[in-house]
Amino acid sequence: MAEAGGGSRPRVFVARILPDEGLEAIRADCDMDLWDGDLPPPRDELLRRVAGCEGVLTLLTDRVDDEFLDAAGPQLKVVSNYAVGFDNVDVAACARRGVRVGNTPGVLTDTTADLAWALLMAAARRLPEADRYVRDGNWKTWGPLLLLGPDVYGSTIGIVGFGRIGQAVARRAAGFGMRILYHDVNELPDDVTEPLGAVFTPLDALLAASDFVSLHVNLTDETRHLIDARTLGLMKPTAVLVNTSRGPVVDQQALADALRDGTIAAAGLDVTDPEPIPMDDPLVGLDNCLIVPHIASASRATRGKMAAMAAANLIAGVRGESLPTEVPPPA
Ligand code: DGY
Repeated sequence: MAEAGGGSRPRVFVARILPDEGLEAIRADCDMDLWDGDLPPPRDELLRRVAGCEGVLTLLTDRVDDEFLDAAGPQLKVVSNYAVGFDNVDVAACARRGVRVGNTPGVLTDTTADLAWALLMAAARRLPEADRYVRDGNWKTWGPLLLLGPDVYGSTIGIVGFGRIGQAVARRAAGFGMRILYHDVNELPDDVTEPLGAVFTPLDALLAASDFVSLHVNLTDETRHLIDARTLGLMKPTAVLVNTSRGPVVDQQALADALRDGTIAAAGLDVTDPEPIPMDDPLVGLDNCLIVPHIASASRATRGKMAAMAAANLIAGVRGESLPTEVPPPA
């Protein structure tokens, strides 16, 4: 949907309908071409629509690489990604061409941690199974052995990736009286970890000691398949794995095997590889695997804040200014 142009206003392409908090600002400042489909623009359409734009607002479903940058052309100044994660953007390729990249950190931290916590609770206490049990007409009586799961309160959580969201999960865990282990590339300063009672632990030891493991790493070459057959094999047979980071951090076939053969007890996934997960993926058929469609940041307030932030990055970028939240080019 191309909207009426405003003379010399910068041309931008916005790859999906966003909350008004973002669209109104972009509409006021730019000559906006908005993709209004429910699904992402097909690749050839995306490449066609970005041609000649000074700014593009992308989603995590849009791949920004050399092909995209070639299609856009040398006048492109900014790629504003509507997400905190930016593994869909080749930041180095953008930097080589002087294209700034923006993301939306900070505003979705607690909303994402809430969803990680919801997955942890729901997978532990088998809520999807219990709900299906009732709706399938199987609830005949109160049962001493019916749908048993582990206690969450007082157990041990291992948090892998201890940035903003990992720390927000730790705050929730502290409220549940949990022992908190964390792993990250570097040990964090005491003023971050001590108030949370979080203890740095090597990854293998963390996996072996935790009742719950929650993943909060960026997707990089180092974290792809961080959770695989070997690392799943270190976990307790009663353990629950939660992933709200990126799907490829987990080797999905290895996870399906581990859930099927009892290597671990359950998983709660907000992200899969690929997305959407194909209906014939082995995980889809497993009762002990709870899967939701990448909704960790999906509160109305947070999606509005993300839209405002992505719009601010886009508008600053087309003006040639530094972005309020800019992804630094790789060293
Ligand atoms: C992100 O922002 O990276 C999430 O995955 C979607 O909000």
